[in-house]
Amino acid sequence: MTNEFKLDLTRRPRRMRRTASLRALASETEVLPQHLIQPVFVIEGEGAPETIDSMPGISRLSINDTVAECRELHGLGVSGVALFPKLDESLKSDDAREALNPNTLVLRAIRAVKAAVPELTVITDLALDPYTEHGHDGLWDAAAQDIVNDATVEVLTEMAVLAAEAGVDMVAPSDMMDGRVGAIRSALDDNDFEKTAIMAYSAKFASALYGPFRDAVGSASSAGSHNLNKRSYQLNPANRREALVEIALDEEEGADVLMVKPAGPYLDIIREVREETELPLAAYQVSGEYAQIMAAAKKGWLDLERCRNESLLAIRRAGADMILTYFAKAFVQG
Ligand code: PBG
Repeated sequence: MTNEFKLDLTRRPRRMRRTASLRALASETEVLPQHLIQPVFVIEGEGAPETIDSMPGISRLSINDTVAECRELHGLGVSGVALFPKLDESLKSDDAREALNPNTLVLRAIRAVKAAVPELTVITDLALDPYTEHGHDGLWDAAAQDIVNDATVEVLTEMAVLAAEAGVDMVAPSDMMDGRVGAIRSALDDNDFEKTAIMAYSAKFASALYGPFRDAVGSASSAGSHNLNKRSYQLNPANRREALVEIALDEEEGADVLMVKPAGPYLDIIREVREETELPLAAYQVSGEYAQIMAAAKKGWLDLERCRNESLLAIRRAGADMILTYFAKAFVQG
């Protein structure tokens, strides 16, 4: 190669990309096991894990298997798990009464995990969708054809106290009702659970990417559709400013961690929230984001590991401190 054509450049950014070690030295972002939270789906009984067609690699686990999985995740350095119950249809009702059963599946799972692996952070959702026949996150007023905000919040506050009693480290209201973070904070404090933290699903968009999750927890089969319309409470994907309003409210109401969800298609929101608040920020890489990568990889169209790693790196680069991701275990295992 002759060098007749020569640019007179002072700055040649490629110098720092020349070798692997120079690139490593200049690397700005990393994804470590400590940043990750693995969602885990829990089922009743002692049966074998149940696979979920739309989420290859993820299964619903009995409480015993959940405990074993949590031990393993802790051993791998993953910081936390988010436990989601899949209930028998017979336990679902209009008023979500099973959510307030002090011995309901998720509470038994929390107790078992905290007893076995106390150092692992255990998080549980506060929302009614695993418990309602219609699959909505709140109580449904058939006459008004709407979710009832305040009555739903009352149930959530009671769920929060039950989860705190069971030993959960963070409750995660995922329902998007108005005023729920403040009400949950007061209920926890009134019951001497001032140490229980709130991870608020603050900017949760009405996304089409929750479909596989609704298979996993059975809310799709209860509702007869994946396409349950949650637009009267979840955010319009078109709206950036409205997301910032929700973030500000949850911060004022006492959230300890704010969350943006989904993650990958909402990196702009993650970045903006990062710049608006000093609180820890979580991003939820949701079931549909996972399914897209898994499906393309299965077809041989995308490289699974590289796409997985790049998706997580991008979420961290956008400004998330912690990531809820179905890839947590696989990522850490390499
Ligand atoms: C329920 C809840 C959902 C998710 C987490 N909590 C689904 C929904 O709002 O319909 C989605 C998670 C995922 O897709 O991975 N409130």
